[in-house]
Amino acid sequence: MRQKIVAGNWKMNKTLEEASILTSELMGMVADEVKGNVKVVLCTPFPYLYPIKQQLGGNARISVGAQNCSEHDSGAYTGETSVGMLKSMGIPYVIIGHSERRQYFGEDGKLLATKVDKALAQGLTPIFCCGEPLEIREKGTHEQLVKQQVEESLFHLSAEALQKVVIAYEPVWAIGTGKTATSQQAQDMHSVIRKHLASKYGAIAENISILYGGSVKADNAKELFSCADVDGGLVGGASLKSREFVEIIKGIS
Ligand code: PGA
Repeated sequence: MRQKIVAGNWKMNKTLEEASILTSELMGMVADEVKGNVKVVLCTPFPYLYPIKQQLGGNARISVGAQNCSEHDSGAYTGETSVGMLKSMGIPYVIIGHSERRQYFGEDGKLLATKVDKALAQGLTPIFCCGEPLEIREKGTHEQLVKQQVEESLFHLSAEALQKVVIAYEPVWAIGTGKTATSQQAQDMHSVIRKHLASKYGAIAENISILYGGSVKADNAKELFSCADVDGGLVGGASLKSREFVEIIKGIS
């Protein structure tokens, strides 16, 4: 059985106080309302990771994740955060290769492969993002591109290492646009990704959680999450409001 995960990507939003209020609301609502075996991950800005982790205490359902990490171990890289630092704070997850990192910070497949390696070496779970921009979808080469993104950054891994990775498929045209992929489009791509993993790794592809991201909302989560190969979501804007986010989480549990 694949692990179901709903991760909130807060991006560069909220003050520390607002972050703390959101977390305490979520702790209450998740405890009272969420039934199934779903993991909730709050991907907060770097400065809030440790305080939010402290606030969560030993919460069994909710944990924290970083939104990025450096490809370097340590040294003169002003403004960067290493995976070793995340590990030293007990942070279990890290998003790698979000389309905003690819687009605004020029991160490419080779660099992301290094980040994935760093995360795995320190025992963190990478949430590796892939997804096509609109022009590629319109050209009809989206499956090819996403397969290539997965190949470039993950196919060097051993089967054992791959099993520790979570994948998030996020079509760029659906991120923050209010335009969600249909459940059929999501299922089709998730199945393409899983089959591509199976072509190299065989049956273990069945164990890899593949999340959908891109304008997931309370009113479309249930349908998206009911697809056979969709194991949860990576949620941006809608994860910033406790009621909305909890309704999304309930869509899978
Ligand atoms: P969105 O963002 O839910 O606001 O579309 C998703 C993401 O970027 O991870």
